Amino acid sequence: MDLKPIFDKFVLPTYNRLPIQFVKGKGVRLWDDKGASYLDFFSGWAVSNLGHCHPHIVKTIQDQVENLIHVPNIFYNETQGILAQKIAENSWGGKTFFCNSGAEANEAAIKLARKRTEDKYECISLLKSFHGRTFGAMSMTGQAHYKENFKPLPNGFLHCEPNNIEQLKSLVTNKTAAIFLECIQGEGGINILDKDFIQEARNLCYANNALLVFDEVQTGMGRTGKMFSYEHHGIEPDMMTLAKALGGGVAIGALVVKSELDSVLTPGTHASTFGGNPLACSAGIAVFEVMEKDNILDHVQKMHTYIIEKLKIFKEKYDLISDVRGLGLMIGIELKTDEGQNIFQKCCDRKLLINCTQKNVLRLMPALNIEKRDIDEALDILDQAFAS
Ligand SMILES: Cc1ncc(COP(=O)(O)O)c(C=O)c1O
Repeated sequence: MDLKPIFDKFVLPTYNRLPIQFVKGKGVRLWDDKGASYLDFFSGWAVSNLGHCHPHIVKTIQDQVENLIHVPNIFYNETQGILAQKIAENSWGGKTFFCNSGAEANEAAIKLARKRTEDKYECISLLKSFHGRTFGAMSMTGQAHYKENFKPLPNGFLHCEPNNIEQLKSLVTNKTAAIFLECIQGEGGINILDKDFIQEARNLCYANNALLVFDEVQTGMGRTGKMFSYEHHGIEPDMMTLAKALGGGVAIGALVVKSELDSVLTPGTHASTFGGNPLACSAGIAVFEVMEKDNILDHVQKMHTYIIEKLKIFKEKYDLISDVRGLGLMIGIELKTDEGQNIFQKCCDRKLLINCTQKNVLRLMPALNIEKRDIDEALDILDQAFAS
């Protein structure tokens, strides 16, 4: 069925869509309505971290929908408590507020940071960052083109060049409520923050009674080889935001805070109708269960070494490539020219799904349980795309 006429007539055109309709997914593969299979090295912006329709996640969701899909937050629900406990056990033992997306999680973090003290309201984030499309998250995003035509924006959002310690020092004042960081900027082009910069941000927050917030919406849930990316740096943030892979494909977002902050957002000060519903939370529990049982984090480290070694050879072969970088299975191939979209299309024509960001960075984010043979297959296709 040609869906374009229906979309043209009934769906707001907020996305550039490719003329492909996927009807089935299993593991690292997707099938279109004509039966063609695609190797998925993008996982829907790092949502399908355990592949498509992982059997344990499917079974858990099936069992849950038979019993209870939604219950309002004026009552207790078991799945929400268990998922919050899993997040705490896998991080710093704090408390979680549940919502439905990354942007919403960041909005909750901004609200908490502002509510915590009377006089501090400024949030510092980085140029090239991406934090979501709602007004607070969009204002915090450090890329002008996302904000064009939406003025006036809320005030109190300042931006610092990534890894510029001196600039960060100059921006932090007694008005600073929080510093928001992505350990690796995803939409920004797989830019990895320096250890020193992160450490300095941590110190500045301690010294100025401000909060350090890690946006782990894309980097979280094992994507970088640790459950959460802050673990690479030997520090703990005061809060982190999660979404994407947390629900294994079901919409969920979360704000996780240190215990010291657990009384800032009191009843009535923040809420979300769907936040923490049994369907989404059961999926989140299943995601943690698979990650533990299948030792996914170890596997990510092994696959990281394998793919990076191969991509380095690739870099020697193609002069177009200026850099290969990443942590875990969040990998960027930077090109010397803005050929990214072209290579993306050539891969797509050959049934490999990757992504291009910032026009010149190819982003690879396969499922974390990917096997070597799938990596070999993807690199063969990438080779053909570069060669052509
Ligand atoms: C780091 C980061 N934060 C926030 C968001 C926004 O998440 P959502 O689209 O679920 O609102 C994204 C989405 O790409 C992201 O990559």
